[in-house]
Amino acid sequence: MKAIVITSPGGPEVLQIQDVEDPVIKEDEVLIKVEAGALNRADTIQRKGSYPPPKGASEYPGLECSGTIEAVGSQVSRWKIGDQVCALLSGGGYAEKVAVPAGQVLPIPPGVSLKDAASFPEVACTVWSTIFMMSQLSAGETLLVHGGSSGIGTFAIQMAKYLGVKVFATAGSEEKLSACKDLGADLCINYKTEDFVARVKEETGGKGVDVILDNIGASYLQRNLDSLNIGGRLFIIGFMGGTVTQVNLACLLARRLTVQAAGLRSRSPENKAEIVSEVEKNVWPAIAAGKVKPIVHKYFPLSEAAEAHQLMESSTHIGKILLVP
Ligand SMILES: NC(=O)c1ccc[n+]([C@@H]2O[C@H](COP(=O)([O-])OP(=O)(O)OC[C@H]3O[C@@H](n4cnc5c(N)ncnc54)[C@H](OP(=O)(O)O)[C@@H]3O)[C@@H](O)[C@H]2O)c1
Repeated sequence: MKAIVITSPGGPEVLQIQDVEDPVIKEDEVLIKVEAGALNRADTIQRKGSYPPPKGASEYPGLECSGTIEAVGSQVSRWKIGDQVCALLSGGGYAEKVAVPAGQVLPIPPGVSLKDAASFPEVACTVWSTIFMMSQLSAGETLLVHGGSSGIGTFAIQMAKYLGVKVFATAGSEEKLSACKDLGADLCINYKTEDFVARVKEETGGKGVDVILDNIGASYLQRNLDSLNIGGRLFIIGFMGGTVTQVNLACLLARRLTVQAAGLRSRSPENKAEIVSEVEKNVWPAIAAGKVKPIVHKYFPLSEAAEAHQLMESSTHIGKILLVP
């Protein structure tokens, strides 16, 4: 099969399409003939050499895909050859075929094309497992999403609105803010020209938001804590603003705040299967009802993975970038 190989750590140009061995499935896995794979910011970090695949995972990049099942392991009962599916991967999505544990596979949500379904597994599992399963974000509360126009952000805005949450989003341009507004965000803040803490306070009568989904980390930590209501929960999923900082902890005690962080890729297959099952139960109905839509910015042929990475690193995209073998 053809796959994108990281020929050495470096810029987008190190991504090259090559002929490689087909993956071999284990008893509890299925083989998917890939219709589309989607990019995630983590793929760019893996390409640079700082985010190696977990033990046992494919060496090729790609954390999610959609496609048709081509083979099933002897212990797999739910899926059969010919089923159209999408899947959460530990790697290997930038390829014509990928092997994946059966528990990380999902049916194509009704109303979504086989190709566009590739845009859902990673964002749905990340957002559902963090702010919903762990931070217990619920109807009537207020959420602040940083990077509202990102793959993660465009999904989080739609899902939170579907569940009756008031949503504030930050982004770095008027075009991105307008996209967040169209997805249902109640308040859109240009973090380049406005102070998001002041805007959050102004809109909440000085109280702050209940939950924050944060992809920035260190450089936002104090300001995120300053933006939380009593009992507020900060969930950190990325470190685009660094990992080391100093904060005043007094507000954690005074306002009973919780700070959590989690990564999806390093979780065990059993844990990923639990999350995938919760996503099918809680998120798939929202997609089937047309309330959460795939937001695809651009499709690239698999052979143009380098160009796709350049686009992601330019941060001019809104939503997901897909690779089509
Ligand atoms: N922990 C996990 O399991 C997990 C899983 C998936 C993703 N993630 C993380 O989630 C984040 C989003 O991932 P993605 O794949 O959706 O990436 P993406 O589509 O490339 O989006 C990243 C966005 O971050 C925004 N950004 C950069 N600096 C910002 C700032 N200072 N304030 C607000 N926004 C800023 C950029 O938009 P602007 O132009 O608005 O700046 C960009 O659109 C990444 O950090 C990724 O590593 C974590």
